[in-house]
Amino acid sequence: MSTPATTIFSPETAARFDRLVTLYPVRRSALIPMLLYAQDEVGYISDEVVKEVAQRIGITELDVRNVLSYYSMLRTKPAGKYNIQVCTNISCMLRGGYEILEHCKQRLGIGHKEVTPDGQFSLEEVECIGACCWAPAIQVNYDFYDELTPEKMDAVLEEYKTGRGKETR
Ligand code: FES
Repeated sequence: MSTPATTIFSPETAARFDRLVTLYPVRRSALIPMLLYAQDEVGYISDEVVKEVAQRIGITELDVRNVLSYYSMLRTKPAGKYNIQVCTNISCMLRGGYEILEHCKQRLGIGHKEVTPDGQFSLEEVECIGACCWAPAIQVNYDFYDELTPEKMDAVLEEYKTGRGKETR
């Protein structure tokens, strides 16, 4: 375990990681938060991210990859600028979640875990995102949209296409 001489991360993120590994009784407990911060900065968990995170924590790259394969919120390929996650778990399924997913597939011309050619949008079918009372729900990056209909979904897509989405405000 060590702080690398050179880092692939910004000075702010590298400093955050230096501190993160001191916060837990077991260094390895910093792994998930570190990977999430890395994904936010790099866009996905690249081979370089795996290598540096393993070094910082003092575990093998295989240990990191084992965790990666378990958590669906961690990506090993770049997502679109706006990553649309459509919940199709039970509450959303009963209230049109699959209809919303199919609608997104048609509107964007991509399938599950695919990215539009311009890199603007990616699409994912996901498990419950904790908005069951307002199903069907989706998440675009860190923003939620709920009680969706195909028409409302079109409006959400249009907001992002024209730079008026929540994230762009
Ligand atoms: S089932 Fe869709 S948000 Fe919980």
